[in-house]
Amino acid sequence: MLEVRNLVKEFGGLHAVDGVSFTLQAHTITGLVGPNGAGKTTLFNTIAGLHRPTSGEIVFQGRPIQGLAPHRIFHAGLVRPFQIPRPFAAMTVLENTMMVPAGQAGERFWNNWFRRGAVRAQEQACRARAQDVLDFVGLDRLAGEYARNLSGGQQKLLELARVLMADPQLILLDEPGAGVNPSLLAVIMDKLRELHARGMTFLIIEHNMELIAALCNPVLVMAQGRLLMQGTPDAVRGDPRVLDAYLGGAPQ
Ligand SMILES: Nc1ncnc2c1ncn2[C@@H]1O[C@H](COP(=O)(O)OP(=O)(O)O)[C@@H](O)[C@H]1O
Ligand SMILES: [Mg+2]
Repeated sequence: MLEVRNLVKEFGGLHAVDGVSFTLQAHTITGLVGPNGAGKTTLFNTIAGLHRPTSGEIVFQGRPIQGLAPHRIFHAGLVRPFQIPRPFAAMTVLENTMMVPAGQAGERFWNNWFRRGAVRAQEQACRARAQDVLDFVGLDRLAGEYARNLSGGQQKLLELARVLMADPQLILLDEPGAGVNPSLLAVIMDKLRELHARGMTFLIIEHNMELIAALCNPVLVMAQGRLLMQGTPDAVRGDPRVLDAYLGGAPQ
């Protein structure tokens, strides 16, 4: 589904991503771990089009996407929550969910002008879809609530709902478990499993090894901008190179 070849992203002289290559198989949940500063977030941002790569190739479903604008990558089905504008505090959960761009006819001036009926039908379809998605993540009863009144965990669920509105094929999640209490974490993990069972593909950065072990296979390990190894969660946890990287004795 995704092939990254020799990807480099430099900031000034710093090689945040330093020649990374890997392949993501469709319908997998792949984990990405590594110590702070390893380059994980930079790798995500470069894949999603928020950073232009210094060099290298990114092929998504057979099509090169390196250097494309984030919204074009988003519309191709590769979604990272950052590509979507942040939720508006003063809008409801339903409104925030409905505003995710999904090629809505209502966005286009000519359509608004000449095809009001079609736009209205499209808006109804969008609303129905948003309600389904909120139902799926368990926020249906909060659809009319202002986004600012949601707890941190509920905001994570809203983020997931908004990602799903885009009808993604590959979802990049950066630390979905961060700042989430254990019962909500169980809910989020359940939702990810269910989406995976329905055929979605995920790449997940996460520090919580429990989440990684329960959901992800394979697991990629980054250190100092490079891919250190990949393997099953058990293989990764038992590998001395990985322990070394976390302890700061980084390999060259
Ligand atoms: N926009 C940026 N400008 C300059 N340096 C950056 C930028 N983003 C990240 N870096 C640097 O790149 C390296 C990798 O950071 P990051 O990708 O955030 O690592 P991780 O997500 O694995 O903790 C770090 O040294 C960080 O300071
Ligand atoms: Mg990070």
